[in-house]
Amino acid sequence: MCGVVGYTGIKQASAWLLDGLQTLEYRGYDSAGIQVVSPSGNLHGVKCAGRVTTLRERASVANLNGTCGIGHTRWATHGAPTDRNAHPHLDCSGRIAVVHNGIIENFQELRRELMIAGHEFRSETDSEVIAHLVEEAWAGPARGDVARAVRNATDRLEGSWALAVVCADLPGTLVCTRNGSPLVVASTDDGAYAASDIMPLASVTSHVLQLQDRDVATLSPDGSIEICDRDGRPVAHPPSIDIDWDASAARLGGYSDFMAKEISEQPEAIERLLAGRLGKHGIELDELSLTREELSAIDRVVIIACGTSYHVGLTAKVAIERWARVPVQVEYASEFNYNEDVLVTEHTMCVVITQSGETADTLTAARRMRGMGCNVFAITNVLGSTAARESDGTLYIQAGPEVAVASTKAYTAQMVAAFLLALRLALAKGLMSPAEVEKHFHGLELLPGLMREVLSRRWQDKQAARLFRGKVSSLFLGRNVSSATAYEGALKLKEISYLHAEAHPAGEMKHGPIALLEPGFPVVAVVPADHVRDKTVSNIMECIARGATVVGVATDGDEQVAKLCQEVLWVPACPDPLLVPAIAVIHLQLLARYVARDRGFDVDKPRNLAKSVTVE
Ligand code: G6P
Repeated sequence: MCGVVGYTGIKQASAWLLDGLQTLEYRGYDSAGIQVVSPSGNLHGVKCAGRVTTLRERASVANLNGTCGIGHTRWATHGAPTDRNAHPHLDCSGRIAVVHNGIIENFQELRRELMIAGHEFRSETDSEVIAHLVEEAWAGPARGDVARAVRNATDRLEGSWALAVVCADLPGTLVCTRNGSPLVVASTDDGAYAASDIMPLASVTSHVLQLQDRDVATLSPDGSIEICDRDGRPVAHPPSIDIDWDASAARLGGYSDFMAKEISEQPEAIERLLAGRLGKHGIELDELSLTREELSAIDRVVIIACGTSYHVGLTAKVAIERWARVPVQVEYASEFNYNEDVLVTEHTMCVVITQSGETADTLTAARRMRGMGCNVFAITNVLGSTAARESDGTLYIQAGPEVAVASTKAYTAQMVAAFLLALRLALAKGLMSPAEVEKHFHGLELLPGLMREVLSRRWQDKQAARLFRGKVSSLFLGRNVSSATAYEGALKLKEISYLHAEAHPAGEMKHGPIALLEPGFPVVAVVPADHVRDKTVSNIMECIARGATVVGVATDGDEQVAKLCQEVLWVPACPDPLLVPAIAVIHLQLLARYVARDRGFDVDKPRNLAKSVTVE
């Protein structure tokens, strides 16, 4: 969701700004723009609705000479995705340019006030008020000091922001600040850089600084970065974050799309995550900031997440309840934030699951739980992300950059991380002996091999995808732990193929969804060999009796399912049925991808979606 980039230094700014925006495309956006300060002290820019490739074409015929500039990919919140509403936004004089990620909640009242004061607005966005507020401050006591003008402007704002600001009167000065929305800065030999996340910076540095909320950074062409607090007092640089993957990790490397690449990377991601996790006394999970005694006293777990990560939570609930016998409540962060306070005791553990570590609703919920005195444990992929920094303990899944908007490798890696947590809890509570934990751990170690086997069967998914031709809707079913897999499968299909899909626990079908069924209606039934298989098979029969076309996800050798279903996506037998979701979901990821490609869509950048949802 909205990407911000900024550069000042010795190189031409526009080339890196455009590359940076291209790298941030994965966050999701609908328009883009850049603005550079020319050596003669003027602002020149291009912006447009649509893709960065269109912006590049426009930039190639514009005069964008300058070594300092800012850029933006916009995901529309206030105002349609049009050229006019694209960032950067300028003040009335056209000498101050601003890019913004976040939402200014009090923009209407500010806009009214600024219009009365004579400011002219050119867009319908909330962000434009910032350019005019900086202009006001610049015309007053902050003249000659961009950082101060930005501080004065942000003092008037309510909401969330990551900002990059340039001013034609001070070519070479780039000012950045944030509140709630992510922003990192980096100092290098050829200048200083800013970006919404580390992805665009991986090609220029291996160390970045994550700005603290409300701190204002002034970046200079010699690469220096000065940081002040909201009152203008200099503050020390925050600890630098090491980028531990090389820039090529965020490139396609021979794959046709990032989704294909990331689906294929799942076995290695799990191997990395499990490496060194089995110690002499069971699972090594030092990231937990709780003693063994405190862990053993945990009597309730509240899991908070959004989207795909929420489906990990549903799977984690089954594992934690089965292995550690602790009741688990799984909450959508966006709903949880407006519910009454949950009853939290010192023995309640909050687990936030978030690939990006920046999902606004998840962060708000985690802060609320911490505010209630709860220990918060984050499972995340992004190093130094807000969720990681604000939690009592963080387990990094180390899946590497996930670029495709639809999450795949983070899903299975987060799931395995949750399995580790469940085993650690079971051990601490004395419900499993170290030997039993070890046995389960060896089960987890088999997952990469089983995943590779599923990946080698992708032709099955390609074949099954044909059944979705000409269809407008589908139903995904599963029971117990497989219901979470069904939810995730339906979400994947919706996200990238734009076909309607809904998921239900198989037993719920008779309470409504069965009315959808008619001859040829596609149903995907997740029915691995486990204690609820027979019940789901009965549901498949009910679907078939109504003419539905059923695609089964079943365990090798299940002849009954093979006879019933039009197509079967086979999963190899797994030592523990509880672990099947980590391999079965790969078929559903592949199925969604094949259906989407069959329909001619860009699977990496689905319409309207953002990778990192940084507004509530
Ligand atoms: C967006 C993404 C999803 C992701 C969800 C939660 O909707 O498109 O892929 O699952 O946000 O993101 P998080 O980073 O918190 O896991």
